[in-house]
Amino acid sequence: MTAPTLAHDDAGAGPPLLLLHGFPHDRALWAPQRALARRARVIAPDLRGFGASAAAGAPPTTLDAHADDAAALLDALGIERAVVGGLSMGGYIAFAFWRRHRARVAALLLADTRPGADDAAGIARRRELIAAARRDGARAVADAMMPGLLGKTTRARRPGVEREMRAICERAPVAGIVGALEAMIARPDSTPDLATIDVPVQIVVGAEDVLTPPRESEAMHAAIRGSRLAVIPEAGHASNLEDPAAFNAVVEDFLRAIGRAI
Ligand code: MLT
Repeated sequence: MTAPTLAHDDAGAGPPLLLLHGFPHDRALWAPQRALARRARVIAPDLRGFGASAAAGAPPTTLDAHADDAAALLDALGIERAVVGGLSMGGYIAFAFWRRHRARVAALLLADTRPGADDAAGIARRRELIAAARRDGARAVADAMMPGLLGKTTRARRPGVEREMRAICERAPVAGIVGALEAMIARPDSTPDLATIDVPVQIVVGAEDVLTPPRESEAMHAAIRGSRLAVIPEAGHASNLEDPAAFNAVVEDFLRAIGRAI
């Protein structure tokens, strides 16, 4: 089956930077990264099942299919290689993209993510979320996710960010939510892949991230040869949205450093 072309934003010129959103989000998560268009061609899709890509057919139930959708989007845009970035679930998809399309990866940006698969307790929590989504809709999932999605500083001091994140989560289609949860349950452990990564890698994590805490990023940093790690103070799991200036500065610095290599 031919992959659909994902709805997406595409702005700027320079090295292509593909940004894959987390769960249960859509491309609005990356709105603050439009500022990076002064240095890169920033491409932010709605993953199938979310945002305007909900119209593109049944949501996939594997992260491999999301990775293939992203590769098909690059095809449609005439892009051979890109810096592939993902936040949280988007990072899990970036690992799948690396396994399936590594020749197309110029560099990786791994934000607030982790390589490990779910343990039994994590799978049980996701099954509860699937039931809650089917029974009570996206709002119930937003209620369950919100406490972990933002850091304590943001929750105390940045009500606008909290409102924005809640709005994104509450508009997620139930079919997309269920598909993504099934896909995350089924995902393999990407830890063995870390040693195979031979492109430049920037890891970013909010110091207050409780879902994929800094210790996960430190372990990834140790396992990926030559990788860079930035910890953003007073930001949590959505570090790109909670402190866009700090996040964008890290990405700009990374793009500058990898320069002509991409
Ligand atoms: C995300 O932000 O994408 C989710 O927290 C990922 C997850 O639930 O593992």
